[in-house]
Amino acid sequence: MKGIDRYIETNKSLINDFIKSYFNKTGYDKKFPHNKFSLTDAMLYTLTMSGKRIRPIMLLMTADSLGFSERKRLIPFASSLEFIHSYSLIHDDLPSMDNDSLRRGKPTNHIIFGEASAILAGDALLAETFVILSDGKYSKGFDPKKIIAVIRELSCAAGAGGLVEGQFHDINSFGKFSLDIEKIEYINEKKTASLISAACAAGAILSSDDDDVINNFKKFGACVGLAFQLTDDVLDITGNKEIIGKTVGIDKANNKLTVAENIGIEKTKELIKKYNEKAIIYLGKTGAETDMFIEFIDYLTKRIN
Ligand code: IPE
Ligand code: IPE
Ligand code: MG
Ligand code: MG
Ligand code: MG
Repeated sequence: MKGIDRYIETNKSLINDFIKSYFNKTGYDKKFPHNKFSLTDAMLYTLTMSGKRIRPIMLLMTADSLGFSERKRLIPFASSLEFIHSYSLIHDDLPSMDNDSLRRGKPTNHIIFGEASAILAGDALLAETFVILSDGKYSKGFDPKKIIAVIRELSCAAGAGGLVEGQFHDINSFGKFSLDIEKIEYINEKKTASLISAACAAGAILSSDDDDVINNFKKFGACVGLAFQLTDDVLDITGNKEIIGKTVGIDKANNKLTVAENIGIEKTKELIKKYNEKAIIYLGKTGAETDMFIEFIDYLTKRIN
């Protein structure tokens, strides 16, 4: 196994263990006799599916690259990113959004639990992110100013100036952006890059006091995030349904003109390379150890799922 593969697998296990143990302690699992399932069942259904966990991994990798020594304390913060992300996937798949029935190789949340419960499971996951981040049990020993800064990064990235704004324009622009790459890239920046950028910012805030380092990690994450969405759009055209665990061709079916649909696969791959190069320039400016991130960018670019 390559170093990066081992790194990903080890950290994935740590994140998955946290998520499982977290719900054992919440006491949220209330079921009335007429309920077939609980809210927690619906939340855990998507949250515990086999995602790549790239956002938590990027928080941890940022801290590791800056030499933060108590990485165990970062696992709850890293895992909280997966709560926002899973909520965004549940809502993204809804009939009124992308209307998708397959996610991470399984039927989407609303197919199993119904639309109303899927919306509520998403809402609960988003709020739970901030329950975790503001829990004194996890923030003990950190400067409270840093915790507030992390909460601000993640809430800004999730909300009206980030992921939700991006999703709003994505949904309300079906079929409207033929050959207007700039507008599509704006959407990609908001709906996808903002959370990936916030993951790096959070890792940097928790392990450094240097604003320049934090800002360069933020810009680095934004470039990685833009490349990430372009790769997702390429996989929507070229991917294998069994491997990506999602419906192939849904963007075209939804009349969504992605960059890859607009300019073709090869030119999109050139754009991905450009963003990766830009990312590495910002990474260089952080003064952090870069080797693992360079391998990680390669993994993200070559991924088939
Ligand atoms: C899918 O994200 C949604 C996008 C922002 C492109 P991921 O590709 O990270 O999905 P999982 O978590 O691995 O399922
Ligand atoms: C979704 O982009 C971005 C989110 C914020 C969830 P996509 O709609 O392309 O993501 P997939 O392909 O469904 O995972
Ligand atoms: Mg979408
Ligand atoms: Mg989608
Ligand atoms: Mg997609």
